[in-house]
Amino acid sequence: MPTLEVQACPACGHGNDADAVFCGRCVAPLRVRKLADLDADDLRLCAAALAEVLEPPTAPKGRDVEADAHTAELLDAYLNLYWLRPETALWQAIDARTVHRWRSEHVRAPVLDLGCGDGTHVATMFGTRFEDSFDVFAGLDLQGADIFDAYDRQEYRPAVARRGDSVACGVDIRPNMVRRAASLGVYEKLIVGDATRLSLPDASVSTVYSNVLRDLPDAGCEAALREVGRVLRPGGHLILPACTPAWRDSLYFYPRGRAEAEAGNVEASRRMAELDRGRSISFAQQISEQEWRRRLERFDLEIVAREHTHSRETTRFWDVGLRPFAVPLLRWVNGLDAHARLLIKRALVQTLKKPLARLLSVPPGADCPHVTYLVRKPSRV
Ligand SMILES: C[S@@+](CC[C@H](N)C(=O)[O-])C[C@H]1O[C@@H](n2cnc3c(N)ncnc32)[C@H](O)[C@@H]1O
Repeated sequence: MPTLEVQACPACGHGNDADAVFCGRCVAPLRVRKLADLDADDLRLCAAALAEVLEPPTAPKGRDVEADAHTAELLDAYLNLYWLRPETALWQAIDARTVHRWRSEHVRAPVLDLGCGDGTHVATMFGTRFEDSFDVFAGLDLQGADIFDAYDRQEYRPAVARRGDSVACGVDIRPNMVRRAASLGVYEKLIVGDATRLSLPDASVSTVYSNVLRDLPDAGCEAALREVGRVLRPGGHLILPACTPAWRDSLYFYPRGRAEAEAGNVEASRRMAELDRGRSISFAQQISEQEWRRRLERFDLEIVAREHTHSRETTRFWDVGLRPFAVPLLRWVNGLDAHARLLIKRALVQTLKKPLARLLSVPPGADCPHVTYLVRKPSRV
């Protein structure tokens, strides 16, 4: 008899199988080691890993490669936001660079940001710049399974330095994310809702940006694609960041864990699997372009362009980054006064710029783990 046990998702209430690692509806972590539970040995391993991934073997040695001025400015803007997650800053800057290349020709208002999170990514992508006094790490839940699923109105104080384009609509399943996004003043409308059941009218948006579609399990991904096909106007576009089948093996911890298992080193393999913290499976769709084409065409959507985005080197860096150190780092900076915190933030941003720009200069290559598709809904004749 199969077991009927379920675990309710603490974020959205969905009933998941007892052994599910992530929620099947909102991708919240269920059986992933909390950051607060990483011990000193874990952090030692992560520090060694960090040193390794900051020195990518294919990066040109002995000279600094300048990123183009626009990408360097994007990296600055994202580092200013995600200063304690430089891996996220690098990742999002690369993503925004790709969207920028398509922007003038293909990105039209109204824009729907599907799975908008706290909204800072798309706000920055569309030109908003924040004061460095704004700290996205203020008021987090350090004991939480997802430390970002929190909102403290007193602590979380966005300050806009330059206003970019507004975004017509943001949708996210987590109320805390929508509260954070609302506080930016960038979205005209925000909805706490499920990507698989949108409350928007048919043919009501011209562009959908969504980096949650690749995260959803098959049934959710299919339902969300159906909704994207429904709400897009003919001639409109979906911007779809997606993993390739090379994803898992391009990470840092997952392939090491597998190699240790193959060598019979059970304990070392278990440790690597714990440090993977589900990232090898959290993007549920690690599929080929051909498979995306097959799924999209069912909803009258076709891929019209593709950019190889993240190299294996940026992916390995993303897998380690400062994320494992988030809890001790935040405990430390939370104890400082606002001025000292800001000085440390500025110093860290300055220090990180150069190694990150070097990672940016590694070309992704055709076998890269992550691509972004430009998907079109054909115009009716
Ligand atoms: C990978 S995060 C990206 C957030 C934001 N777009 C960014 O880049 O910073 C995915 C977001 O999608 C949201 N999400 C997950 N499942 C969802 C669903 N079924 N419907 C709507 N939003 C969902 C999560 O709450 C999370 O904020």
